[in-house]
Amino acid sequence: MTTCYINGKYKPLSKSTVSVTDRGYQFSDGVYEVIAVFKNEFVDFKLHLNRLFVSLKKMDMKINLNKNQIESIIKKIKKINQLEMGIVYIQITRGDQNPREHKYSNNLKPNIVIYSIIKNFEYLNKLAQKGVKTSLYPDVRWQRSDIKSISLLGNVLAANHAKKNKSHEAVLFDNKNMITEGNSSSIWIIKKNKCITHPLNFRILKGCTRHKLISILKKNKFKFEEKKFSITSLLNADEAFMTSATNFIMPIVKVDKYTISNGKPGLNTLKFRNLFINAI
Ligand code: PDD
Repeated sequence: MTTCYINGKYKPLSKSTVSVTDRGYQFSDGVYEVIAVFKNEFVDFKLHLNRLFVSLKKMDMKINLNKNQIESIIKKIKKINQLEMGIVYIQITRGDQNPREHKYSNNLKPNIVIYSIIKNFEYLNKLAQKGVKTSLYPDVRWQRSDIKSISLLGNVLAANHAKKNKSHEAVLFDNKNMITEGNSSSIWIIKKNKCITHPLNFRILKGCTRHKLISILKKNKFKFEEKKFSITSLLNADEAFMTSATNFIMPIVKVDKYTISNGKPGLNTLKFRNLFINAI
């Protein structure tokens, strides 16, 4: 039985409910965060906690808990659920509003939910040795993908397109055929020993794993650039990979029917994956 924190109480997940007038249910009016727990340790805890508060601010949402209080709840959930491998999921919606109206009242009480999900990261380690297939999909999401909002329909469509094509992830491209990010990851290529990823703007999420990898690249004096790259550049890359809290650094060896380089995980990518895992 998984225990869930919900608005000040700890309850079985199956008994944790919010009202149908919750603005998250009605309008996707809320934000979320995913923090990995690997070998009993949180990964990039502070980066995720800070991003949660950035998302709240961008959505003009205020909660009556500060970062330290949220941190204690997350740690308590991990402990109660004895989570050694998996994720802690945090979701905060603007709260109940009845009658339903697009315009939000300013006195709403946000619904705060925190629980954990077991994930087999060892399986991903095996997958990383082979690399994954991905599928291209147009980026049909709204135009504020920098906010980690629960409004994920575009990501859901993309992820299920990938699933139908037996792909691990969808790689999204904009109306100029430039890659933005994955359905739930940041996308990278390596060309001539330089790592390239989309610059930070409204079109992509500021990935915590992306952030951590950039510091690893700097430390190891590996060249990198934040700039847009096209579908053609992806297909002609020396190496390609994705980064996220749940995949760490995952080599991409195929994009639909196209093979990246020799179809094997790139040596630099695997090196970065090892450096990342050692750093956590
Ligand atoms: N997703 N871009 C999108 C659209 C994402 O949803 C995610 C993460 C990332 C990578 O961010 P990070 O490195 O901080 O995990 C980029 C999480 C894992 C999810 O929604 O499950």
